[in-house]
Amino acid sequence: MNDSGAYGRLAEVYDTLNAELDYVAWADFVEAAFERYIGRRPEIVLDLACGTGRMTYELAARGYDMIGVDGSAEMLGEAMERRVSINNPLYLMQDMRDFELYGSVGAVLCCLDSINYLTEESDVLACFAAVRNYLDPGGLFLFDVSTPYRFEHIFADNAYVLEDEEKGIYCGWQNSFDAESGLCEFLLSVFERNDDNSYDRFDETQCERLYTLDKLRELLAASGLEYIDCLGGFDFAAPADNADRWYIAARRPAE
Ligand SMILES: C[S@@+](CC[C@H](N)C(=O)[O-])C[C@H]1O[C@@H](n2cnc3c(N)ncnc32)[C@H](O)[C@@H]1O
Repeated sequence: MNDSGAYGRLAEVYDTLNAELDYVAWADFVEAAFERYIGRRPEIVLDLACGTGRMTYELAARGYDMIGVDGSAEMLGEAMERRVSINNPLYLMQDMRDFELYGSVGAVLCCLDSINYLTEESDVLACFAAVRNYLDPGGLFLFDVSTPYRFEHIFADNAYVLEDEEKGIYCGWQNSFDAESGLCEFLLSVFERNDDNSYDRFDETQCERLYTLDKLRELLAASGLEYIDCLGGFDFAAPADNADRWYIAARRPAE
């Protein structure tokens, strides 16, 4: 996995820092997208760059046969801790640019800006080509990306603090966006409170790349996937100019 996608110790606090994300509503949207774009409920679903497996488990609980692929052992370790007794997902530690499955799947999801972690166009192309390779003909590929608006106006060179006072976790987050390359570097410093009220600190650097919709459509087409739609949210509305995330639907053409 490239350094930009490094999720090391951050995995320990990842779910706490992202606690506000509503994966129940997100999974409702995914199921509505299955109905709208392919008119069927896929049996096997791949959650690509599944991270700590919040979407993977939500869909497993709804009866899908889930496969989760991620390149970070630490993120997958957190996902494995969530294991329940029935219908457990199959987790594979692999790179999203050249993953291999045991067979094809009816849908591939890639949630929460994971495509932006691929910092070269050739990486995105390789990832899309692998998705096409393992999608059933007519199968759905649903992913989201951070929009150019988010890179330019929200990430920018801004600094943020995320905190969970009850759990004693604080994350300082300094961005540095280079408009020319489209790369945004995030310097994260996390403080975790110990039982004696002292704090441990660790730092992690991540990097994401801005992709325009035209570029993503070009890369989808080049990998043999058919672009279907770009949405601004779970209500299937077209994205506003200041949308921070695009939800993009594509499909492997039926044969
Ligand atoms: C922002 S997290 C999203 C995780 C999950 N999809 C979610 O909804 O919480 C991005 C994930 O992409 C993974 N990742 C980044 N680059 C990767 C690569 N080249 N191959 C596989 N996984 C990668 C990271 O390990 C991390 O789990």
